[in-house]
Formats: sequence, structure tokens, C-alpha cells
Amino acid sequence: MWRCRKKRSWRCCALTEVHGEPRSLYVHIPFCASKCFYCDFNSYVTPPAVRRAYVEQLNRELTLVRDEYFGVHNRPPLDTVFFGGGTPTMLDAAEWRLVAERIHELFELSSGAEWTVEANPGTAELNMLRQLCGLGVNRISFGVQTLSDMLLQAIGRQHTAADALRSLDTAARAGFTRVSLDVMLGLPDQTQADVADTLERAVDSGVRHVSAYSLKIEEHTPFAEWERRGWLQLPSEDAEADMYEWVRARLAQAGMRQYEISNFSAPGEEARHNLVYWRNEPYLAAGAGAHGYVAGRRYRNIRSLIGYGQRLSAGVRPLEEVVRVPATEAMEDTMMLGLRLAEGVSAGRFEARHGRTLGSVFGGIVDGLVQRGLLGVDGRRVWIPPAHYAVANEVFAEFVGALSDEGFPAVGS
Ligand SMILES: C[S@@+](CC[C@H](N)C(=O)[O-])C[C@H]1O[C@@H](n2cnc3c(N)ncnc32)[C@H](O)[C@@H]1O
Ligand code: SF4
Repeated sequence: MWRCRKKRSWRCCALTEVHGEPRSLYVHIPFCASKCFYCDFNSYVTPPAVRRAYVEQLNRELTLVRDEYFGVHNRPPLDTVFFGGGTPTMLDAAEWRLVAERIHELFELSSGAEWTVEANPGTAELNMLRQLCGLGVNRISFGVQTLSDMLLQAIGRQHTAADALRSLDTAARAGFTRVSLDVMLGLPDQTQADVADTLERAVDSGVRHVSAYSLKIEEHTPFAEWERRGWLQLPSEDAEADMYEWVRARLAQAGMRQYEISNFSAPGEEARHNLVYWRNEPYLAAGAGAHGYVAGRRYRNIRSLIGYGQRLSAGVRPLEEVVRVPATEAMEDTMMLGLRLAEGVSAGRFEARHGRTLGSVFGGIVDGLVQRGLLGVDGRRVWIPPAHYAVANEVFAEFVGALSDEGFPAVGS
């Protein structure tokens, strides 16, 4: 058990590093109706019986996770829950009831807790969405990607633009007030006009949160192979940068603040679960291939459904790997993740977490980046000015391995 037995606290794993208690839970549902051509997320196309067996294993894992970190008699509080995929909306009503009831039995959802479910347009019918609301889900995130039918087909999606718009409407009718949608930029043959049309219609739908992701060509996907063969007409870097600028301007005009490099929301509509990741805070995770971060250790579950199920049938957690994050690396992570946020990295939060001031650890790097105009500082926080989001990777690169390279004494390792 990683929680300190003697002190019964979460503080003992490093001398000065403070690990808060995890109050967030990620649950992975690794099923899809088909595989999109660009996607390397851990998801499988399976018969329904596999899903039912998975939900049973998942419930076992959730119990083991609660028992290990909090003890069998406790019902720890959660502030955020996120069901991602894959396609969580491929679970049927009975499966949803099973897993949601287990979560309520094991954990106490704090008042105002955020519970998000990722959904594919076209797989979210009114009855199912009503059921999700009844089970405590209060935020839904649709993978719309684009509202061009031609592009949807070209990236291997099953839904049409009409399905996507209908799903947004269905979610509202089911009672969801917090609806988000994902769009993708830089798709093969995508033009600025396609992006403009998608955003225009998204804004018209009244949605109050948008995630805009640049297409990443992932190894071992059809897109990776097609790119190697020269079959994909990808927009140029400049064209893609223009799409991104256009999205930023249009969503700002619609009253959505860019609170993270790829995320925009109306005030108060930020994804609280994702803020936990960007602030480098701890979280629990369950499901095949899921990653968690507890008491200074990152863990990764077995990806394959068979391996995952076998471990749980034997009554053990399906861990593939557990690594302790050295204190120096945790500080680098705090910078790289936090600088994705418009709020940047708070100096106070950095010191409270790592037991060192941000200036004493990263002063040299920060000063260099400020001189190049790539960072802003005001004594309380450090941030990337939005005009430089397009080159944010250059900024992150300065922090990768920075402490070990400089021979910085590893704190508490
Ligand atoms: C893990 S997917 C799950 C959501 C849901 N299954 C869907 O696709 O509708 C979450 C989001 O990641 C984004 N995504 C997935 N693969 C990507 C890639 N290779 N490049 C950029 N964005 C990607 C898509 O926008 C997708 O909506
Ligand atoms: S539906 Fe989502 S998770 Fe499934 S293959 Fe497509 S992008 Fe990946």
C-alpha cells in the first residue's frame, strides 16, 4: 500500500514532495463499433458478451483499487469521474447500471462532483442518455470531429454530421446542461472552409465547451501506413496553423475562453477532471490500458482484454507497470502540463507541492524563455502567451530532462 501506514497520510513518499489524496477517477471503456483510421486508443471491436464480461472485471478492479488505497471500510470522496474510451456509450443499460452502482457503493461523490462520459454521435439514444443522467452523469463529451460528411467518411467515422447535431439535441433533451464536443484540425483534404463551417454550426448548437485537436498520425494506424505511401493529402503546417487561429478567434467571439491549448469553454464550464491532469494532481484509474497517478507513482494497466480479465479473475490488480516518479521529474511534469493552461503554473502551488520555489528550481530556464518572449511571468505565476501556443512544444522541450541534465539534486529520491 502506498499510503503511509505510520502517519496515515499521503505525504511520506518523498521528503519534501506532498502528494494529495486522489479525488478523481478515470474509467476506460475499450470498445468501439469500428476503428477510426487515425486512432491508436486502446479499443476493440467485440461481440456484446465480451462487454458484459469486461464490466464484471472492471467492477472487481474498482473494488481492489478502493481497498488498496483507502481500506475496505472506507468510502472515499471523489470530485470528478471520467469515463473515456473507446466508446463508453457502447455499454447497454444493464451494464451502465452495474458499473455506476458499484461506483456509488465504493465512493462518495462530493456535492457538485463532475461525472463525464465520452460519447460517439449516433450511439447515444435518448433513453440511454436519460439513464446516464439518472445514474449521476452530468457532463457529456461528443467526438464530433467535423461536420463534413465527406471528411467523416474519409477518417473512418460511422456517424454523419446530421447524427452529430441530433446527438447534441438529444443530450439537451435528456437533461444534460454540460455538453462538450471534440473537433479535429489538419485532417486529410480538410480546408479552412470546412473548419469554419463546423465551428459555425457547433457554436449555433449552443455548446459551451469545445476541444480542438490537431490530427496526430499515430504509428500502427491505417493513416500512418497511408501517409508512408503518400496517399494522404495533409494540409500544410501553415494551413493547419491558420485553422487553429481561426478556431481560437471564432470561439473567443462566441464567449468561450481558451483555458488550455486545445480547450475552450464558457466561464465555469472548464473540464474539471482534465484540470486535475494539467495541474499534475493525483487520480485513480481503472480499465484495460488505463493510467493512474497515486502517491507519486504512475501506474499503467494491461492493455489486452484477455490479460486484463485473467488478472482480475485471479483476484489481483491488472497492473502492467508501476513507476515511482522521481521528485525532479514530477517538477518537470508540473511545468510541462501546467504551461498548457492559460492560468499557467502557480508559484504558490508549485512550492506547496514540491517543497521548493519555482524560481529556485527553474529560474534560469524561465528567465531565458521570458527573454525570448515565449513565457510571461508576474511573480505569482508563469504562463505561455496565447500568441505562442503554436510553438508551445519548443517551450516544453526546455523542461524535458532539464533537472537531471543539470545534475540537480533529486529531492527525496
Ligand atoms: C479517445 S477519443 C474517444 C472519444 C470517442 N470515442 C470518439 O472518438 O468519438 C477522444 C478524442 O481524441 C481525439 N483523437 C483521437 N485520436 C486522435 C489523433 N490521432 N489525433 C488527434 N486527435 C485524436 C478525437 O477528437 C476524439 O474525439
Ligand atoms: S470512436 Fe473514438 S476511440 Fe473509437 S476508434 Fe474512433 S476515435 Fe478511437
